Amino acid sequence: MTVKRILLPKLPTDIIDEVYKSIEVGTNQAFEGDNASYKTDQYAWIAANQIVQDWCNANISPDIYWGVQVITSDMPVHKDLGTQLKFNYIIDSGGDNVVTNFYNDNFELTSSTTCDLNTWYILDVATHHDVKNIEQGKQRVSITGRILP
Ligand SMILES: [Fe+2]
Repeated sequence: MTVKRILLPKLPTDIIDEVYKSIEVGTNQAFEGDNASYKTDQYAWIAANQIVQDWCNANISPDIYWGVQVITSDMPVHKDLGTQLKFNYIIDSGGDNVVTNFYNDNFELTSSTTCDLNTWYILDVATHHDVKNIEQGKQRVSITGRILP
């Protein structure tokens, strides 16, 4: 199994507002150092602000560092660096038909999932995966946390 839906609390609207504030701040900050933002042409990882960290620590788990993931166009097949399992909670889909696909080591498709909004998932990001059907001008925004290591 590469994607599993898990029952955890939904983010309240005031915390979702803080996620978007984190994106505004993070886009203007230095992209270096521990827990600094990370960016490619299709993707940005931005540290969640303290209000979001505090909410996630209190309501999800205090043992995880929380970030905001922003995907602005389709992502090529990859394995994530630095983590094997990841929490993911999508607050903006980036399009009506966006799918997360997983592949075996021969790059054969093994699963294709349309993740529901405002729902927690655990993803096996040590398995090849991509994200497809992001609509032009839209962005896919999620809260994410590394579980392993
Ligand atoms: Fe990934």
